[in-house]
Amino acid sequence: MKILAFESSCDETAAAVVEDGRRILSDVVLSQIDIHHRYGGVVPEIASRAHTEAICTVCEKALADAGLTLDGIDAIGVTNRPGLIGALLVGVNFAKSLAFAKKKPLIPVNHIEGHIAAAYLAHPDLEPPFLAMVMSGGHTSLVEVQGYTAFSLIGATRDDAAGEAFDKAARVLGIGYPGGKEMDRLASLGNGDAIPFPAAAIRDHDFDFTFSGLKTAVINYVHNKKQLGEEICPEDLAASFTKAVCRGIASRLENAFDAYPHKKLVLAGGVAANSHIRKTAEAVCEKKGVALYLPPLSLCGDNGAMIAAQAYYNYKAGMTADESLNAFATSPFNFKF
Ligand code: KG4
Ligand code: ZN
Repeated sequence: MKILAFESSCDETAAAVVEDGRRILSDVVLSQIDIHHRYGGVVPEIASRAHTEAICTVCEKALADAGLTLDGIDAIGVTNRPGLIGALLVGVNFAKSLAFAKKKPLIPVNHIEGHIAAAYLAHPDLEPPFLAMVMSGGHTSLVEVQGYTAFSLIGATRDDAAGEAFDKAARVLGIGYPGGKEMDRLASLGNGDAIPFPAAAIRDHDFDFTFSGLKTAVINYVHNKKQLGEEICPEDLAASFTKAVCRGIASRLENAFDAYPHKKLVLAGGVAANSHIRKTAEAVCEKKGVALYLPPLSLCGDNGAMIAAQAYYNYKAGMTADESLNAFATSPFNFKF
């Protein structure tokens, strides 16, 4: 079964064709980073307009790269939640129009579930159940994946998302948006023990995260240094910040594997590209005797292939929508239409 799926929940306009949820036939991602870079973050209305301009071209390229026309597509998938509402609506309306005109099934997909499904594309042997750690610009969620369409949220951030924290720390250092990748590079060159930042974990909860204390500590550290007229070492700051994030992730993962004895861990989302977080996950998995499924860097960030992969499993579970499909800025897991 060949599914053409669209992703437009934030600042990437993406379309892809995936066969049977596992085989990528095409994967086209058009990033808007160059547009939002000058504002230091994603401007929602500009994102919606840029999606509107790009989505036809991105769709045509996804079909051409797969060597298909719309007639060769069996169903249309689309991210309809959670995300920027105006941005989501562009993808939803486009997908709905194609499904309506070509009389194809329309399959709504939760963006976070899509990030998890990226692992199915990279690891043909992977099947639920497993634990998944999803870290993106908008989400930090520890999820028990009980089945292809059954999810249980174990832990989440109480404030900022992991990617947001990386981007904000980068901003304090004067690094442009989004700063996660550059923070990763700088951290490799610095001393993680140079500055004692608080771990990104809630003390009175085993599975939840917090990034606001860490963010404030970074801002205070930089202000103090500036007031004293002292130099800041960006490499040491990035390394110490990253170490605090990794300490939080390690403790959450260890607690999760103690409470939920799964034998597999999937990392997902844009922040799963972070080399230090990947090493932290490797160390936890080795300690706990758990197999680690890392997505390739190309499938960490937002893309259409992950949405097409999850759409396949939603379709098999009968989770299709009609022409009244809407978009939602927030959404729980297991939402049925
Ligand atoms: O999943 P994603 O592409 O979009 C959302 O759904 O939000 O994640 C984007 C986030 C940004 O905050 C970006 O700075 C962060 O992922 N990111 C990284 C790295 N690469 C991207 N954060 C830390 N280290 C990286 N190597
Ligand atoms: Zn995402």
